[in-house]
Amino acid sequence: MAESMNGLHRSHRCTEVSNALVGEQVTLMGWVQKRRNLGSLIFIDLRDRSGLMQVVFDEPVVGSEGFAKAGELRSEFVVAVVGTVQKRAAAVNENLATGDIEVMATELRILSKAQTPPFPIEENSQTKEELRLKYRYLDLRRPDLQRNLMMRSKVTGIIRAFLLEEGFLEIETPILQKSTPEGARDYLVPSRVHPGSFYALPQSPQLFKQLLMCSGYDRYFQVAKCFRDEDLRADRQPEFTQIDMEMSFVDMEDVIDVNQRLLARVFKEALGVDVPLPIPRMTWQEAMDRFGSDKPDIRFGMELTDVSEVVKDCGFGVFTGALEAGGSVRGINVEGQGAMPRKKIDKLVEFAKGYGAKGLAYLCVNEDGTYKSSFAKFMTEEELDALVKAMNGKPGDLLLFAADRNKIVWEVLGALRLMLAKELELYDESTFAFLWVVDFPQFEWSDEQERFVAMHHPFTMPYEEDIDKLVSDPGAVRAKAYDIVLNGCELGGGSLRIYQSDIQEKMFEALGFTSQEAHDRFGFLLDAFSYGVPPHAGLAFGLDRMIMLMMGAESIRDVIAFPKVKDASCLMTEAPTPVDEKQLEELALKVEEIEE
Ligand code: AMO
Ligand code: AMP
Repeated sequence: MAESMNGLHRSHRCTEVSNALVGEQVTLMGWVQKRRNLGSLIFIDLRDRSGLMQVVFDEPVVGSEGFAKAGELRSEFVVAVVGTVQKRAAAVNENLATGDIEVMATELRILSKAQTPPFPIEENSQTKEELRLKYRYLDLRRPDLQRNLMMRSKVTGIIRAFLLEEGFLEIETPILQKSTPEGARDYLVPSRVHPGSFYALPQSPQLFKQLLMCSGYDRYFQVAKCFRDEDLRADRQPEFTQIDMEMSFVDMEDVIDVNQRLLARVFKEALGVDVPLPIPRMTWQEAMDRFGSDKPDIRFGMELTDVSEVVKDCGFGVFTGALEAGGSVRGINVEGQGAMPRKKIDKLVEFAKGYGAKGLAYLCVNEDGTYKSSFAKFMTEEELDALVKAMNGKPGDLLLFAADRNKIVWEVLGALRLMLAKELELYDESTFAFLWVVDFPQFEWSDEQERFVAMHHPFTMPYEEDIDKLVSDPGAVRAKAYDIVLNGCELGGGSLRIYQSDIQEKMFEALGFTSQEAHDRFGFLLDAFSYGVPPHAGLAFGLDRMIMLMMGAESIRDVIAFPKVKDASCLMTEAPTPVDEKQLEELALKVEEIEE
């Protein structure tokens, strides 16, 4: 039978017990990691969220009843132990924080028994993630996940303290919102009181935080749950958490200043890592040209080189064809990989095709200075020499080229660069390389919607000198938007906001909204601005991504207590599930027969 606490109080967590307490009585509570019987002694490793402590049961000390009970203990039983801290007689465990001490039990209570878990509760689990997610409550007992969640709590605390210190107010915004689709797909919630009408869950608190600026709160932040119905990846979840903020009477420099100091504080206090300030900056254009990505990993080189000029008159139709169609030819130099076997190069070509390339041209600079290449036969000796020189190719190097529309060339070479650097171990996994990427384009063309869509969101301020082009040449407009990038991951982003109604109207026009549509969707914001609005700007960090990178986790699932899987379901609760007919009726909803 399970025993009760009955007046017993925990005095310490396992690893809070130190050498200084030798000879003292402590009361520990936790889970049995394992039990070993050693002749007349029984040992258990007791586990709580702080770590492990060895507990010894010796019949003359704990009594025959206590000793018998200790003999029943199995993994994951929940127990309370009262005992005396002592130096370990033997078998000092160097790997354990508490490796040279142990607790000699005087009392044992079994608070709860446990079935054998479906997988071992241990660090670096080899168990398949699906099984672990089904039993997430057991998975969460593992020390690596516990460390991640404890770090998450710590970081949130540091951020709160920092922002309050800086004069920010923590204000909550609604979860049930008006649907204003522009960006990802909304999650909708049907209204019972207004049949046929729906709330949307927030994709971010964007509009409300701007309204708060309008209302005079001047510095706002929130640890905000956000919901986006988009395709999931290792760094994306349908619900995730932002550290969201907005400031009034500021320029880009002010937002960058506060946020880089915030990052420096977090990394120093949580990890002991110094983030040198200011964090370097790069324009979007430079990031694309040099790294083929708007979130470049700057821990290593292998930068892109535009060789369009060099090859524009060459005899290789793939190159000249791409240039004639308005594209470019760019390459990367994979230094020292000139001897890469053909089979492996073919794999790179396949990889490139996965990113939309029609092919990948290669040139190996042999040690004797001759070339081995998929396109040498189309070029003269001089043309090849000029190309190799432009790429700074040396004997032993492998040069890879993509020829296509800029967008594809960047994507292909950007992805190859990341993949090759990882494989060739070109960077130190334990370093943190921050970068601000600034001056994003205001719009990007959507093939799907056949119109320009906002790259950040429709409230982002364009550069003054580009405002004329909002309607006439949207593709050329630069936005006062900035992203903070860490090790090639987009950690956060924000922008200066439009606060002038004439610019906002133009923006909606450029996005293809009629004045009526704009007012139907965002009327409340436009109205609010007509009553006096300060210039304002803000930013939001992805908290999950921040913790993932800080902890070196593989996926944001590892830093979220109860994450969802690729199809947005929860393997533990099996959400989403069908609901009762009665619930649907109340909501005036009918579900169509779904064909399997
Ligand atoms: P944005 O859409 O860039 O900006 O989001 C800010 C940050 O949130 C994180 N993030 C995600 N994390 C996990 N899963 C997701 N599905 C996901 N989507 C985004 C990223 C991203 O950088 N309102 C604006 C901010 C602003 O302008 O102030 C916004 O939401 O780390
Ligand atoms: P092909 O003449 O199509 O056999 O291509 C010759 C070489 O050019 C092969 O190595 C192809 O992989 C490569 N190639 C084809 N299309 C492209 C492209 N768009 N960009 C770069 N290389 C390409």
